[in-house]
Amino acid sequence: MASSTAFRRCLFLALFVLLSSSAAHGQLSTSFYATTCPGVESIVRSVVSSAVAADPRMGASLVRLFFHDCFVQGCDASILLDDAPGIISEKNAIPNFNSVRGYDVIDNIKAAVEANCSGVVSCADIVALAARDGTFLLGGPTWEVPLGRRDSTTASQSQANSDLPAPTLSLSNLITAFSNKGLSATDMTALSGAHTFGFAQCFTFRDRIYHDANINTQFARLRQGGCPSAQGSGDSNLAPLDVATQNSFDNAFYANLLKKKGLLHSDQELFNGGGSQDALVQLYSANQTRFFADFVTAMIKMGNVGVLTGTAGQIRTTCNVVVNNY
Ligand code: HEM
Ligand SMILES: *[C@@H]1O[C@H](CO)[C@@H](O)[C@H](O)[C@H]1NC(C)=O
Ligand SMILES: *[C@@H]1O[C@H](CO)[C@@H](O)[C@H](O)[C@H]1NC(C)=O
Repeated sequence: MASSTAFRRCLFLALFVLLSSSAAHGQLSTSFYATTCPGVESIVRSVVSSAVAADPRMGASLVRLFFHDCFVQGCDASILLDDAPGIISEKNAIPNFNSVRGYDVIDNIKAAVEANCSGVVSCADIVALAARDGTFLLGGPTWEVPLGRRDSTTASQSQANSDLPAPTLSLSNLITAFSNKGLSATDMTALSGAHTFGFAQCFTFRDRIYHDANINTQFARLRQGGCPSAQGSGDSNLAPLDVATQNSFDNAFYANLLKKKGLLHSDQELFNGGGSQDALVQLYSANQTRFFADFVTAMIKMGNVGVLTGTAGQIRTTCNVVVNNY
């Protein structure tokens, strides 16, 4: 009797060691908070719902926030840190400054989650969940988000400047930017479908609407109306990334590309007459189910880039500052 109890304890210990060592090796799990914070997903959903009800663009902004987190040091909430001794904020990097939105929504979610289960849920996981909810609430797919990321104690503004792709990039440079993060050309084309919602500022597409050849003439004129040709004039004027259905997550982005109505130069590079992604753009524009499935696969893959797990990093108390444990 006593020895069988000891044996069982031993089994439990072995199982525990196995589980925790797999966590230390970067394994995320959809049930990570099942016992430690079972309310987290409903809290995130409710805060994102209110934010999207007040401003539908916020769904898009939260998806982009996740992308800009994952491409810099991995999905570790490094993008959320403010300037501090030893921290040069990524918020002030060229692709992020006056452009990335949703920091306030993440702060509201974190405060609500801390009130429910304190010191348990990382900011990095909140960003991943908010991106999933932003997609779903605007009509896109939903999925189970693998969780268990931890938060960084560092940020890298220089990596934000070097690794986030610019809208001027060619197809081959876009493919390289994603392959540098372990993502395939298919992942890149599927993830770019996030440009089915949200907005871009005039300075990011001015060159395209005045100088690119592979653009629909009427579409170029339409966008020129809100974006003067002179550098510095109307730079921050907004235009929807998806000319057809700006506030819904669907596959219209790809149909736009077939008509040469991509807003960004980089968007139209995905369908530029004979390029490697042309067939996939055609497939996604014809089959939204397939786009949604590939988008989900790629979001989960992107969500695994460079994650901190186990005892690496920390769980921040507020997302914009590192917790100093000394
Ligand atoms: C393929 C390379 C990509 C480039 C060159 C690119 C570039 C851009 C640019 C220039 C903007 C407009 C920013 C502004 O004017 O302030 C933008 C917006 C956006 N991007 Fe991308 N992006 C890329 C990939 C992605 C990916 C992978 C995602 C997410 C999975 C994403 C999601 C978004 C969303 C949702 C917006 C609108 C955000 C809002 O309205 O707040 N982008 N992107
Ligand atoms: C945490 O959230 C869950 C689900 O929303 C709720 O049932 C529970 O009462 C909350 N607990 C606390 C301490 O706020
Ligand atoms: C669309 O894609 C889905 C998922 O890959 C597939 O099951 C379905 O047969 C496709 N539909 C058509 C019309 O090809």
